Amino acid sequence: MATRIGIGLLGLGTVGAGVASILNSPEGRHPLIADLELARVAVRDLQRSRPVAIPTDRLTTDPNEVVDDPNVHVVVEVIGGIEPARTLIMRAISAGKSVVTANKAVIARHGEEIAAAAAAAGVYVLIEAAVGGGIPIIEPLKQSLGSNRIERVSGIINGTTNYILSRMADEGADYHAVLKEAQELGYAEADPAADVDGHDAADKIAILAGLAFGGPIERSAVPTTGISNLQGRDVDYATQLGYGVKLLAVAERLESDGDPMGSLPLGVRVQPTLVPKDHPLAGVSGVNNAILVEGDPIGRVMFYGPGAGSGPTASAVVADILNIAGIRQLNSSDGGLDPLLAASSWRSCHLVDSSRIRQRNYVRFNTEDAPGVIGRIGSCFGEQGVSIQSIVQFDACDEGAEIVVITHEVGNGAMQNALQAITSLPGVRSLAAHFGCF
Ligand code: HSE
Repeated sequence: MATRIGIGLLGLGTVGAGVASILNSPEGRHPLIADLELARVAVRDLQRSRPVAIPTDRLTTDPNEVVDDPNVHVVVEVIGGIEPARTLIMRAISAGKSVVTANKAVIARHGEEIAAAAAAAGVYVLIEAAVGGGIPIIEPLKQSLGSNRIERVSGIINGTTNYILSRMADEGADYHAVLKEAQELGYAEADPAADVDGHDAADKIAILAGLAFGGPIERSAVPTTGISNLQGRDVDYATQLGYGVKLLAVAERLESDGDPMGSLPLGVRVQPTLVPKDHPLAGVSGVNNAILVEGDPIGRVMFYGPGAGSGPTASAVVADILNIAGIRQLNSSDGGLDPLLAASSWRSCHLVDSSRIRQRNYVRFNTEDAPGVIGRIGSCFGEQGVSIQSIVQFDACDEGAEIVVITHEVGNGAMQNALQAITSLPGVRSLAAHFGCF
């Protein structure tokens, strides 16, 4: 029997509003979400208008009330900053409540203390949203890649700076104007210096390194250079030399240095870095983040997606809440399974007839090289309601010609009718190729 799980939300800013909006609309999502109830929410100002509807009796300006509320089983901390976030997390743990947090600054600096308190209290502190926004990277490092000996974790883990660098490189956009836009889009930290000076990325690589290599990382020892002194001319020169400039965070295992305690030597840093144009991280642009994990035996695996913003970060927060909800359900059932790990079906699905699928198409016809062939093909597509994006004739010679067409998105049924009619046209010898086109 499913039991309601009370969620206490600390903060209703960019990420908090995203979380509330998911919890308020469970339709079409995993059924466990319907068991979650937004029981209490701490806000800074009760009068402020909000993008998401919350009954006023659930709002409070005192975050302690949220943590202490007996109807709150899981505390979600999305206030950001070190204090009062750290104290509230510790208070929740002391009250025997699991915590979900997006707070990389707190975890990078106080993760050890928090983890020890959580272990002693028998509760979880989950942090998927703290690194990479919506990208699942914490859970893969903790679980899916657990059999690997990790050699290196490197990546673009600050959306704001990647957004700024991409716009500067692509459009020559002005640094300050783009930073302002990133703030308006909800990507930037309250103090954007945390982004542009590299401290946010340093927090995140410290967290990733701790998980990848299994030991706590001294956050204050991570050498950090941001992008605030990066000049447009360096981006230009790098481009001319075949590189892109990215703010990269890197953590790698180094050769043993004979540490008497057997401690693992790591090289960790954050700095603007030239990335060859054909490197997997080079194509990561805008607010997107990507984390490349290199290990034995997996080789290289890359995690890519939106690294900041309300929806993506809320997606990661709610995933963590679901993990805790799954464990609670497992513990309260008699011999049951964790519903997320078991991944049992929760609704019916069916495959539609392929004529209902819509897509763009690439087609190649073998034709005679004669007047009017392209025109007839074009008309035939038009009569069947298929809109052409481009039509090109290649290799015209005595033996004939090849006509290549890319269509706009169209239903497969209409496309098949058009192809049938076209292959019967005078001058069209055969349909030589037909592929989908993304
Ligand atoms: N300011 C952060 C970024 C938000 O730009 O990546 C996500 O942690």
